[in-house]
Amino acid sequence: MTRLTRADLDALPSYVPGRSVADLARELGIAEAIKLASNEVPFGPLPGVVEAVAASMLGSHRYPDMGVVELRDKLADRYAVAADRVVTGCGSVALAEHLIRATSLPGDEVVYAWRSFEAYPIITATAGATSVRVPNTAAHGHDLPAIAAAITDRTRVVIVCNPNNPTGTSVGRAELDRFLDDVPSDVLVVLDEAYREFVTDEQVPDALTTYGDRPNVAVLRTLSKAWGLAGLRIGFLVAQPEVAAAVRKVVTPFSTSLVAQAAAIAALDQEDEVRRRCALVIAERDRVTEAVRKLGVDVPTSQANFVWLPLTDRAAAFAAACEQRGVIVRAFQGDGVRVTIGTPEENDAFLSAAEVALA
Ligand SMILES: Cc1ncc(COP(=O)(O)O)c(C=O)c1O
Repeated sequence: MTRLTRADLDALPSYVPGRSVADLARELGIAEAIKLASNEVPFGPLPGVVEAVAASMLGSHRYPDMGVVELRDKLADRYAVAADRVVTGCGSVALAEHLIRATSLPGDEVVYAWRSFEAYPIITATAGATSVRVPNTAAHGHDLPAIAAAITDRTRVVIVCNPNNPTGTSVGRAELDRFLDDVPSDVLVVLDEAYREFVTDEQVPDALTTYGDRPNVAVLRTLSKAWGLAGLRIGFLVAQPEVAAAVRKVVTPFSTSLVAQAAAIAALDQEDEVRRRCALVIAERDRVTEAVRKLGVDVPTSQANFVWLPLTDRAAAFAAACEQRGVIVRAFQGDGVRVTIGTPEENDAFLSAAEVALA
């Protein structure tokens, strides 16, 4: 048969949707299953978001503002950066993809730690670029000297995920300063801070305030996690104006939807509530970490809204055992299991399941 699609895509894993809670509850004959697999925050939409979305729907027969002007200005104001440095997109994952498309041609290299966010290999490959994966340290964190050493004259982008998904580990300011000084000025460093709002360690820098002015740095943030808008798909990046302008050229037109814009504008007014929710998640993260350590698993300290159980070959069996007890977690067989922090009750259900699964 004549081949219509790119042969190199055959090597990419197809998306396998996670188990649905309704489906699992039906199978187990229980009222409700619990999903701790996608790093969402469990408290529902922020106050005012549903109303803002409903009001915006009256204009849903029109295209959204392609310039995303009101939201861009609000983000620029909130994060104290010039508006021409801000680009919004259909989730920060789309913006990461756009950054690679705006920088890399087939054969160019994108360097990142592994294991890290599962989307990185996919968005690199779809741009036709080549992934260079640098193994994490024994403590499950980025090996920044090795990442710097992996840069060649084909490297266009280096991604640093801080805190790292799925291990929750983070890199500190001194380490990152040294690393950024080592990276050639014609390589773009993407600092992916999807989980920034959950960081409590003062050694871990806020990239927007610490590195935002470096010419070869782009910072990714999302409204999916702490801001509770995962289902509406909205994230943003801050980069130098030339990089931001190049990204705007490759963004799918109108991809920040009308409802996403309205929801984000409303969410950004809820900063106190976001802080309150993050504090709840952080307290639970620390409780769950301690409890799982007591079960004999060497959980690295997490600065995100999830914890990592480095169970290597036992990962899939552990996740299956949790599922049998109504709790869906995310296994990466051979490496470990990532468990999102939920409500205290959900976390208790996970800890009971984990106790049995690890017995
Ligand atoms: C490290 C990291 N970056 C980016 C994203 C993407 O977030 P979104 O596309 O929902 O903004 C995620 C989501 O899980 C993530 O873990």
